[in-house]
Amino acid sequence: MNILITGGAGFIGSHLCDALLKENHKIVVVDNLILGRIENLNHLIGLESFHFIEEDILHINKMREIFKAHSFDMVFHLAANSDIQKGGKDPEVDYNLTFNTTFSVLQCMKEFEVKRLFFASTSAIYGETSENLTEDFGPLQPVSNYGAGKLASEAFISAFSATYNIQTWITRFPNVVGERFTHGVIFDFINKLKANPQELIVLGNGEQNKPYLYVKDLIEGILFVCNNTHERFNVYNLGSYSRTKVKEIAQMVIEEMELNASIKYTGGDRGWIGDVPEFKYDLSKINELGWVAKINSNDSVRIAIQKALGK
Ligand SMILES: NC(=O)c1ccc[n+]([C@@H]2O[C@H](COP(=O)([O-])OP(=O)(O)OC[C@H]3O[C@@H](n4cnc5c(N)ncnc54)[C@H](O)[C@@H]3O)[C@@H](O)[C@H]2O)c1
Repeated sequence: MNILITGGAGFIGSHLCDALLKENHKIVVVDNLILGRIENLNHLIGLESFHFIEEDILHINKMREIFKAHSFDMVFHLAANSDIQKGGKDPEVDYNLTFNTTFSVLQCMKEFEVKRLFFASTSAIYGETSENLTEDFGPLQPVSNYGAGKLASEAFISAFSATYNIQTWITRFPNVVGERFTHGVIFDFINKLKANPQELIVLGNGEQNKPYLYVKDLIEGILFVCNNTHERFNVYNLGSYSRTKVKEIAQMVIEEMELNASIKYTGGDRGWIGDVPEFKYDLSKINELGWVAKINSNDSVRIAIQKALGK
């Protein structure tokens, strides 16, 4: 297929490029590098089946030119804000980068009659609840602007899918970790400890407990869902049942960096406003389809730390 990946210079998008090129597709990446890095794609630039375009998806007329020039068969829409705390300070960030990028992509898909869409969604759409999160859990009440931007995106995708007959795959990711990450708790802890190897300051009480998924498992899961489900509209949680506490991550980072640092907790049950301290996915839908994560949450965290430290 002729595939557009938005946000393909980012952490997850660049791994998706690698995987889709292995499946012999032709890839065009559109990314404005606001959060992504061209180094993530250096190994692909120059390949005949790969093309990188530095552009802002919100420039819809430029996007129309790109859609016109390439006749895409499918779009993988990953571009979004990934700095959730920044989105909390300025609501326009998620309104524009998380929601409006989706609307811009949908407009182009409608105009140029592209009939297949994958969308990178998130556990953040579910908000804060102690329930097991099935795909049809509701009411959906996100507690971050990022979660709201993703939920609004899902709503418009659902409507465009029904109105313009666009076959759609949505997977809702948990916390994703691994090579090339540029944000998240592991990344923050490593940077803090590089700045001060004696003491690690942890936001919250360290009891925040979430599933972490290794990026290569995530990519396999995305492709498994896209290749094995055939409804017009397909929605799946993607993750593993195992979870890791923030205090365990802090210990693992200190161990892997071979330091003797003490840990200081700032207190409170969450890292920042908009953070969801705990969630549990119900994964029966994707497990019954035949996909199970290979690597559990603790091992995913451990591997990600080691890769980040160049081990
Ligand atoms: N990393 C995670 O743990 C996680 C969890 C749940 C969902 N997701 C979703 O997965 C996707 C990829 O996340 P990631 O962690 O790789 O983040 P990332 O920041 O590394 O990648 C996002 C990419 O989108 C690009 N982008 C943003 N706004 C753009 C615009 N207006 N025009 C063009 N490009 C733009 C950025 O430059 C960046 O390269 C995102 O949609 C994110 O919401 C990620």
